[in-house]
Parts: sequence; C-alpha cells; structure tokens
Amino acid sequence: MGTLQAITGMNDVLPGDARAEGAPVERWRALEERFRAHCEAYGFREVRTPLCEYTELFHRGVGETTDIVEKEMYTFEDRGGRHLSLRPEGTASAVRAALEHSVLARNPVARWYYLGPMYRAEKPAKGRYREFYQVGVELYGDGSAAADAEVIDLAAGFLRALGITEFRVRLNSLGGAASRQRYREALVAHFAPVEAELSPESRARLARNPLRILDSKDPRDLPFKASAPRVLDHLTDEDKAHFDRVRAFLDALAVPYEVDHAMVRGLDYYTRTVFELQDASGSLGAQDSLGGGGRYDNLFRELGSAADVPAVGFGLGVERLLMASPAPAPSRPYRAAVVAASKDDVAVQSAALALAKELRSAGVETHVDTRFGSLKSQMGRANEQLGAAAVLILGGNEIASGVVTLRDMTREKDDPDKQRTVARAEAVAAVLAHRRTTLGGPTP
Ligand code: HAM
Repeated sequence: MGTLQAITGMNDVLPGDARAEGAPVERWRALEERFRAHCEAYGFREVRTPLCEYTELFHRGVGETTDIVEKEMYTFEDRGGRHLSLRPEGTASAVRAALEHSVLARNPVARWYYLGPMYRAEKPAKGRYREFYQVGVELYGDGSAAADAEVIDLAAGFLRALGITEFRVRLNSLGGAASRQRYREALVAHFAPVEAELSPESRARLARNPLRILDSKDPRDLPFKASAPRVLDHLTDEDKAHFDRVRAFLDALAVPYEVDHAMVRGLDYYTRTVFELQDASGSLGAQDSLGGGGRYDNLFRELGSAADVPAVGFGLGVERLLMASPAPAPSRPYRAAVVAASKDDVAVQSAALALAKELRSAGVETHVDTRFGSLKSQMGRANEQLGAAAVLILGGNEIASGVVTLRDMTREKDDPDKQRTVARAEAVAAVLAHRRTTLGGPTP
C-alpha cells in the first residue's frame, strides 16, 4: 500500500525544524498575531464563522456569474441531501453572521476581522492553492469615504508592518446602482457589435453580466477590453464625489495609490470603491495580488436584510504575504532539558519528569527524552537536536543527597564553571537565573 498524500493544492504547515518547503508555522503564527494586534488598534474585533455554509449563500453573495461560483467551489451534498460548499471567501459568511445575530441592532457600526482557510478549486500554481488562508476585515454600517480610506490604510499599514515595502495600491470605483446601470448599457453597446469575435465565456456574460468581460484573460477578448468604455466616465455625481473624497482621505493618511480604471475585481458584490494591493517586487510571479477588497453596499439586502447596510472590507492572501515579506532572523529560544542518569530506575525517571514539570510551570520550555536511553544519548539529544542552554542531570546519588547537577551548555567544555551542583529545592530558581543571564535582561 502506498503512502497517502495531501490533496493537490492543499498544503501542510510544519514547525521550522521539520520543514522542507514553505514558511514554517512560527512565521504563520507571528503574522497572525501581528494581524490581530494591527486590527485591534483600529478597533476591529475577531469573528469566526464555519468553514462550510449552504451553497446558496455564495450563489447569492459572491454572484452566479463569477469564476468562483461558476467553476471553483467545493460543493457537495451532505447526508441529508443539503447543498453545502466550503467557503471560497469570508465576506458572504460574515454578512450572514451579522444578520443572523442582529449585530447591527445593538450597535449600528461593527468592525470585524477574521483569519482562516478558504477553498477554491483553481489550477494550483506558485501562490495559487486550493486551500489558502486569508486575513480580512469587514466594516458594517458606515458608508463614508473615510471608512473606505481607513480600511485601505489598515491593509497598506499591515503590509508595511510585515516588512513588505514594494507594493502598489490600485484604486477604482464601480459606482452604485445608477452608475452601474449606465455603465452596463455602455458596455453592451461596446461589446454587442463584436459579440461573434468574443470568447464563448464573454459571449455568455454579455447578456448576464457584461462587467465580468473586463475580468477575462482570454486573448480573443483583450483587444475589445482595451478599447472598452471606462467606468469612471459613467459615475453619477454622487459616486464621483465619494471617489474624490476617498482619494483625498488617502492623501491625508499618506497612503500612495494609483487609479486603475480597468480594475473590476472578481466578485459581484462590489459597489463604489474597489482596490487591490499588488506586489511590485516581482517575487510572486503571476500571482502578484496580495489582496483586494472594496465597498459592497448592496450585499446585506441581497442576503435578506430589510434595510440597506453600507459595508467595506478586504481580504489578503497569507501564503502570498509570507512569500513577499522578509523572513525574520532566526531567534534561539531558551530551552532546558532534564536527563535521568538511569535507563531503568523508575524512581529516578519519575524525579526527572517531576522536575521538568516544575520548570514548565515556571515558564521554562523543558524537554525530557522519555525514551530514557543512555546518559550519552540523552545528553546528545539535548545538545544537538534541542540546543538546550541548561541540562539538569538527576541520578540515584543526586536524589539521595537532595541535589541536581546543572550543566551550563553555553560554556566551553573546559570551563570550570560548566557544571555545578545545586540543591533540588533551588533548581528552578537556578535555571531562571541562568535564563536571565543567557538572554541578557529581564525575562517575562
Ligand atoms: P479576493 O480578491 O478573491 O477577495 O481574494 C483576496 C486575496 O486572497 C487575493 O488577493 C489573494 O492574495 C488571495 N487568494 C485568492 N485566491 C487564492 C488562491 N487560490 N490561492 C492563494 N491565495 C488566494 C476576496 O476574497 C474578498 N472576500 C475580499 C473582500 C473582503 N472584499 C470585501 N471584503
């Protein structure tokens, strides 16, 4: 029987010492903690929603004519015949949760953030996976241009906090319902005469959702896309004023951006402001979109809300952020090991386990090689595999005299202070003191 492998396009994240490729779990955790702290500084709070939802949520939320819904969802029937899908993104689920729990009835403005896996059956490539992680924020109940600018500033500031300096913020406006209707008519007038020359996909989209044609990468569509009318020329005065205010606020917040009138985003729920953060270092190759988002003032109503709720947010791809950000210098954590100088004396081994437990309670990462091999092999593991700074040795003699042998692994072999005996009752304090001197400075 062959060994089993992970599903194509779905990745394991391993601790640094076990890792062959990809970022180690330590870097993932550091990114997640930084994201949490960054969002909370802007007043956002974490939400967690299920990985799986009724398929209808994404049909109504993300849009029937999007690539995601047309060909990328992991959809299946559960045992009760219900149609479920693994979430391809987080925005629709978060709106569902806000409505389900009447969140805005208690407080008319909610600022939420989330992190977790998303699922899209795309063709795997560098930076494009079938299970990938996003960090994202959603801001509900505030239709102001200042809210858009704050959300974009939060995203750009997070990239900088990760040490990503080479990126572009691309900005566009898709307008509200009235602008969209005007623009739709202009697009149909532009594409209809050349319908026969478009790709079959774009032909199908011409009637259902002509905006999606602008998202096509099919070479047959490109020349007609390039000459298509520009959405910014079809905005109502109100939508235009909103866009101008977003730009003014971004200037005030010193967030550099470029207006890209051809950017439409791949999801149907956007209204007014849309933006993408694009890697500009070249290190990501073709998948250079670090994240994107925008305003979606109609989604609440489309998902059943009686009232309109303005909303804006973004999602960033964690794998891509990890590829684009510099790896921090490896830090060497302080570790201790307790070694039992007996292969078969359960009393000695018990004393070693108890001492390790005491050290852990005092906050010291402590290892015991519970296979209890020879003293030499236990010492070798503590030194070579763990890089322990202190090793505590317990044998029958030590136990009888109420002491432990403390070996300072940071000292040279011939240093007379390398090894000393300390009273068992003083052992934890001695290790804490050693940690302070080794790390230099107070420890938490
Ligand atoms: P999105 O543009 O579909 O937006 O995805 C956001 C980011 O997720 C992308 O820019 C990319 O970094 C990452 N991403 C997407 N697909 C993959 C993949 N197959 N493999 C690796 N990374 C991927 C959204 O999902 C919206 N929900 C964002 C949003 C929130 N808009 C408003 N609020």
